[in-house]
Amino acid sequence: MCGIVGYVGGKLASDIILDGLEKLEYRGYDSAGIAVQTENKIDIRKKVGRLQNLSESIQEKGIEGNLAIGHTRWATHGAPSDENSHPHYNSDMTIAVVHNGIIENYMELKKELLDKGYTFNSETDTEVIPKLLDLYEEEDFFKTIQKVLKMVRGSYALGILNVKYPDTIFCARKDSPLIVGKGEKENFIASDVPALLKYTNKVYYLENGELGIIKEDSVEFFDLDGNSVEKELHEIKWTMEQATKGGYSHFMLKEIFEQPKSIEDTLKRRISDKKEILFDDINLDIEKVKDIYIVACGTAYNAGLQGKFALQKIAKIKSDVDIASEFRYSDPFVDENSLVILVSQSGETLDTLAALRDSKAKGARTLAITNVIGSSIAREADDVIYTWAGPEIAVASTKAYTTQVTVFYMLALYFAKKKACIEEKEYNRILDNLLAVPKQVEQILAKDNEIMKMAEKMIDCQHGFFLGRGLDYSVAQEASLKMKEVSYMHTEAFASGELKHGTIALIEQDIPVLAITTQESLFEKSVSNIREVKARGAFVISITQEKNADLVKQVSDEVILIPDIDDLIAGITCVVPLQLMAYHVSTLRGLDVDKPRNLAKSVTVE
Ligand code: AGP
Repeated sequence: MCGIVGYVGGKLASDIILDGLEKLEYRGYDSAGIAVQTENKIDIRKKVGRLQNLSESIQEKGIEGNLAIGHTRWATHGAPSDENSHPHYNSDMTIAVVHNGIIENYMELKKELLDKGYTFNSETDTEVIPKLLDLYEEEDFFKTIQKVLKMVRGSYALGILNVKYPDTIFCARKDSPLIVGKGEKENFIASDVPALLKYTNKVYYLENGELGIIKEDSVEFFDLDGNSVEKELHEIKWTMEQATKGGYSHFMLKEIFEQPKSIEDTLKRRISDKKEILFDDINLDIEKVKDIYIVACGTAYNAGLQGKFALQKIAKIKSDVDIASEFRYSDPFVDENSLVILVSQSGETLDTLAALRDSKAKGARTLAITNVIGSSIAREADDVIYTWAGPEIAVASTKAYTTQVTVFYMLALYFAKKKACIEEKEYNRILDNLLAVPKQVEQILAKDNEIMKMAEKMIDCQHGFFLGRGLDYSVAQEASLKMKEVSYMHTEAFASGELKHGTIALIEQDIPVLAITTQESLFEKSVSNIREVKARGAFVISITQEKNADLVKQVSDEVILIPDIDDLIAGITCVVPLQLMAYHVSTLRGLDVDKPRNLAKSVTVE
């Protein structure tokens, strides 16, 4: 996520801004910049790369001034570069803007500006804002801001300077967080508490559709029509450590709880009001694709397992999934009629990148599903679909996984429509179930305490099993990886039907077995598998939809119920309690859940 910091007061503004941006580094970024109101102009510096690059530029040539706005950019439109960094400004640099969010209608706004002779320095959506403020500037600049924001669709947290108002920061918020910090003869704006906690713990939280006029000795709030808004001043009780995690104890927990929003963001960026799936930028003739290979590592590979299920079931395309480090040496039948989909949260996993290069060398069309704009895999693939999970800081991948799976379902529906192999009714049924996922994940997260209590029963277990059939088996593999990598418990995922071919020999008294049973068509068999392990002393925790509660409760020691959802889509929601289970076992064991031993967030070595 981008980070915003603003300051007005008696101190050297650039020091405060750099310090605040440093406290927001955890949000992930690829460039940084600052705009300082000096005597009679706005001085702007911006640098791609680490914040250090910006600091060095300011150390070389300082910027006087005690009013400034600063920004760390997490690229959404346009790769990381100096030009694409914020702040953005109008041509005579009398207006500067920093922005967190997405201007969804920026193309039409940009066209209007280009038609009026405006030029642009960047590829960003944000740059339309200072140009619009310039175009519509009137005597009362605050009215100009209100007018322009009514033209904008999308999300924004904004810090705005205008050289005609040398003592003022204007700010506004819609969907992207923004707070105002109240100090002694100094005031602040920021995306998040850590940026200003060193200076004040008194903050106002801007609500959607609210604007602020911030001076060193006053803060005023208004709605989009200019009506004054009274706001409550909050006192923050967090430590700095807690603040960077938004009040959660760990990044992994924060990111698990961000999933309703990350899934919703991933959905809404690519689904029109008329329920069309907007993947036309993937210039690919699906009719020419004879087979699909999904290639990834770790959790991304597990997302690919669900992807295969979706592509075959919905789009009726022969698909396969392979671990990148195996794919490269398995001499796959990849040719110009193959589509190779590379899945990678970081976009930098070397095995996956190498598989991409091998596939291109064989003439295949390559499509990346990644979370990092401008990453190596995003840049080298023929096409890319971004997940909108925001930075994933915890080593254990959670929100990236569910957004990757969400993309696969949208892709499967898109291809099915292109191939005319899906009935309108079926298409709408699946899409409606997909659109219901964010709300259902919210409902599941509300069971966190219940799940923690079950985790308490597993603290001393050294071994465990995750069972499932069909789609449930794919989820079992991801759940097993989560538990292994954060709790260090030795677990294995098993196709329930495979138990009797060997693994059942390992089932002994009180060994935990997590049984995933969401697939109606396999329900009877899954239940009999639970009976098999129960009969041999296992402690069974089952995950299933509410509609199956009665029967599953009869055969399990504990049951975690998820809201009823189409079996096809159940793989996205039923993983959430298992993510929480892994998280709690790890923390109950006193382990470093965000940075598990021996693991890195991105494996850029073979
Ligand atoms: C997932 O929890 C692990 N951290 C790891 O398996 C990860 O999924 C794998 O290394 C792939 O990373 P990528 O998605 O960035 O390519």
